Amino acid sequence: MKIVGIVSLVFVALKLTISVLKGFWTTFLGYKLGFGIEWKAGDNVWAVVTGATDGIGLQYAKQMAQKAYNLVIISRNEDKLMATQKSLLNDYKDCKQDLYGSQMNETYFNVNMFSYLKLIEIVLPKMVDRKRGIVINISSQTAITPVPLMTTYAATKAFIRFLSDGLSVEYEGKGVTIQTVMPSMTKTKLLHESNESSVWTVGADEFVSAAIQTVGIESTTYGHWKHKLLSYAVHCVIGLIGQRLVAQMAHKVMKQSRDHFYLMNSSKNK
Ligand SMILES: NC(=O)c1ccc[n+]([C@@H]2O[C@H](COP(=O)([O-])OP(=O)(O)OC[C@H]3O[C@@H](n4cnc5c(N)ncnc54)[C@H](OP(=O)(O)O)[C@@H]3O)[C@@H](O)[C@H]2O)c1
Repeated sequence: MKIVGIVSLVFVALKLTISVLKGFWTTFLGYKLGFGIEWKAGDNVWAVVTGATDGIGLQYAKQMAQKAYNLVIISRNEDKLMATQKSLLNDYKDCKQDLYGSQMNETYFNVNMFSYLKLIEIVLPKMVDRKRGIVINISSQTAITPVPLMTTYAATKAFIRFLSDGLSVEYEGKGVTIQTVMPSMTKTKLLHESNESSVWTVGADEFVSAAIQTVGIESTTYGHWKHKLLSYAVHCVIGLIGQRLVAQMAHKVMKQSRDHFYLMNSSKNK
């Protein structure tokens, strides 16, 4: 019995040590020691950024412009696209830019699955021909486990995660780096205001600054150290009590916050 206890303790300690070391490596050391991707901007080198007029996409556009990549920025609102182009051109003088507006219905299926598949189909063969390219796919922490009452969103994010993770392995010998990014609460228009003051919430700029340093080091990343810690906790809880129970607990929490939201809205409208 004593032996079983000792073996279990050693096992848990070992797992914890590996996770902590992995966390340090992917968050701080790997990039500092030069193990990240080699960004190769140039005259005719373009970065395509979807959802580039706001939030996380805008921050990726800024970071790529800062690295002197030319940009194709995509979103659906023409005025916002023009304004974003103007401000990026003003801040990053050497970077050429092109605009692309996508006119699609705003269902999760269209935005997160159909358009994503279409874009991948267009860019990947070209990258393989040139034996170089970087694809960064934004999934979500909701892709870890089903999230009742956010079921469709989480399911489309799981689709992105699985597709991206699979393609990342398929294409790794072909000069193309594919990364899956799984943000948790990031301060953008998408985030519900009740989550804005959470200790786990990070700004879109700090999220992208952290996430971009993991390209070439992690093929799937939670991006920011706070989101890595949170996801580690979620994985531990799932390991302990199982996915079903976690989903049932999430259902209760989601239902409470939905009821609270309806209550606040109805009192505002009175
Ligand atoms: N913020 C978070 O807490 C969080 C957490 C996990 C995952 N994510 C993921 O991160 C990604 C970016 O989210 P965000 O928080 O940065 O949101 P955001 O601030 O609302 O920005 C969304 C961007 O997508 C564009 N967009 C929206 N619908 C579109 C459509 N139908 N066609 C083309 N472009 C469209 C918007 O442009 P226009 O307004 O000009 O149309 C905008 O540039 C999303 O995939 C989201 O699921 C976010």
